[in-house]
Amino acid sequence: MSQRVSGYQRQADDEYETPAWVAHALVPYLPAGCRHFWDPANGPASKIARALRQKGLKVTATGDDFLGRAILPRLDIDGILTNPPYGPNGRLACAFIAHALELVPIVAMLLRVDFDSGKTRLPLFGDCSSFSSKIVLLDRIVWFERPGAAGPSDNHAWYIWDGRHSGPPTIKYARRATSPPLLGWGTWWRPDKFTNLSGCTRSMSQRALDRGENKPSPWTGDGCCFGSDEAKKRRLILWLKRRLRLLSDLYLAGRLWASRTAKAMAS
Ligand SMILES: C[S@@+](CC[C@H](N)C(=O)[O-])C[C@H]1O[C@@H](n2cnc3c(N)ncnc32)[C@H](O)[C@@H]1O
Repeated sequence: MSQRVSGYQRQADDEYETPAWVAHALVPYLPAGCRHFWDPANGPASKIARALRQKGLKVTATGDDFLGRAILPRLDIDGILTNPPYGPNGRLACAFIAHALELVPIVAMLLRVDFDSGKTRLPLFGDCSSFSSKIVLLDRIVWFERPGAAGPSDNHAWYIWDGRHSGPPTIKYARRATSPPLLGWGTWWRPDKFTNLSGCTRSMSQRALDRGENKPSPWTGDGCCFGSDEAKKRRLILWLKRRLRLLSDLYLAGRLWASRTAKAMAS
């Protein structure tokens, strides 16, 4: 995977605070029946615990040396979930995963999207029978808001291990909850706010606009001019056409239903 220099300075002790949306994106994929999680890398300003509590989960957060802990801080903990420190060559993160799997059957870790690629990491991923799923985040994480800085270059995923899992791991894709669906029902009532004609989502195109760029769409090659009057007009026309198509579909379905009902009543 190609990488570019993001301009972010590596933080001492990997002091990256996870934005709330990243934790929220994981919630629908957590193994059923798990309500109490432990975040063992709860830094000074950790947001994961708070974000998950907002979603009704119970979270115990600790900040002392996780690798030195041989027992759970609470007996009723179902799983361990964190954004671990990476350490040199990701070795600390690997140690976190291995230690977590020794303590509980359910583990969720936020890692770079290619973290499972290394051959030496097979025992934790490809060769690990409880590695159940990888939830790829389609929106990139902005770790530090810095006006004018280039956008983040890394992609991330939640990796989930579940002791009850059998078979190969599955891959799923999650979006930031505030991101609009791609040409879904959400586009019907606020077309100007959501998708443009070429299918660029607001977050992508808005970011491009914020950077003063007019990027070509990866889907159609059209100009992705989200905010221009021309684009707004095209979106409005598309939205009206879809509305009309829906109305005509409803009308046809209604006629079909009426004729079937009439036939049924006559026979
Ligand atoms: C990437 S940050 C994540 C912080 C927080 N969990 C969040 O997501 O907002 C990793 C955290 O792990 C902490 N850390 C580093 N080594 C650790 C260790 N051995 N045991 C527990 N926490 C550690 C760092 O201080 C840092 O706060």
